[in-house]
Amino acid sequence: DWTMAAFREQAIAAIRAQVGPEGRVICGLSGGVDSSVAAVLIHEAIGERLTCIFVDHGLLRAGEAAQVVEVFRDHYNIPLVARDASELFLGKLAGVTDPEQKRKIIGNTFIEVFEEEAAKAGGADFLAQGTLYPDVIESVSFTGGPSVTIKSHHNVGGLPERMRMALVEPLRELFKDEVRDLGRELGMPETLVGRHPFPGPGLAIRIPGEVTREDCEILRKADAIYLEEIRKAGLYDAIWQAFAVLLPVRTVGVMGDARSYDKVCALRAVTSTDGMTADSYPFDHAFLSAVATRIINEVRGINRVVYDVTSKPPGTIEWE
Ligand code: XMP
Repeated sequence: DWTMAAFREQAIAAIRAQVGPEGRVICGLSGGVDSSVAAVLIHEAIGERLTCIFVDHGLLRAGEAAQVVEVFRDHYNIPLVARDASELFLGKLAGVTDPEQKRKIIGNTFIEVFEEEAAKAGGADFLAQGTLYPDVIESVSFTGGPSVTIKSHHNVGGLPERMRMALVEPLRELFKDEVRDLGRELGMPETLVGRHPFPGPGLAIRIPGEVTREDCEILRKADAIYLEEIRKAGLYDAIWQAFAVLLPVRTVGVMGDARSYDKVCALRAVTSTDGMTADSYPFDHAFLSAVATRIINEVRGINRVVYDVTSKPPGTIEWE
């Protein structure tokens, strides 16, 4: 695509002009599309003067943390600090049930860990962010999400004074689909570039109520099966976001000839253009039953699966 090729060249020139010949940039990676594309672009512009920091809060989907490390460190050779902070996050979340409180804890802990790692890496003059045009015009506004891209409208304000570096935001003029095109132009893998949006607080807002390591593991398994079936059916790209939710409700079932008493898994899939409004995806009944059967047979701890048919508004995409 020649337009994206031209954008790439312009953006690289602009980054070089802003950062100068000596400037150092630090970038928080979330495993999502925006921060990843921003990092690869900035690396092309200034090479080793970019340091990426990936804080694993233990609330990612199956295989995601490993993929971030593989793509950045091994494939692109981009200096990457990967910190497994799952113990810290899950420890602070223990006993907390209020959704906004959960978001606040995750956001603050994220900043704390990010700051620590940035200092260890020797600091920087600039902070890179994968801010998109819709973020700039604030059509999307989240409450206190940690959002590892640290979106300016809700997070940079929360950074401590000493962390307030000048911002490098090379995607500010782009929409999501253009960011994906730019990622392809940069040769990034389709599994990363085409990935559904994922919220900063991760699985914590897909486990209503208290978050435990055990429930995160149950949810990761169910979610992976659901997404695998969606990909196999060729539906992934027709859906804006699809994910499993683990409800803190136990119901009775029969497994073989024994009675079971386990948790309920809710499946969510929506179509949308910007996340502001959304409709539930109209799967075939046969598809949903097949997914339900697999989840109940393969994931210990779940014995019932339901499908969420709520649109937004009045519902939200996430359950918390
Ligand atoms: P809702 O649930 O508000 O979600 O309909 C709209 C879009 O925003 C994402 N989302 C978040 N992203 N931090 C984030 O970075 C958050 O706290 C947060 N809450 C929701 C959600 O996944 C959907 O794409």
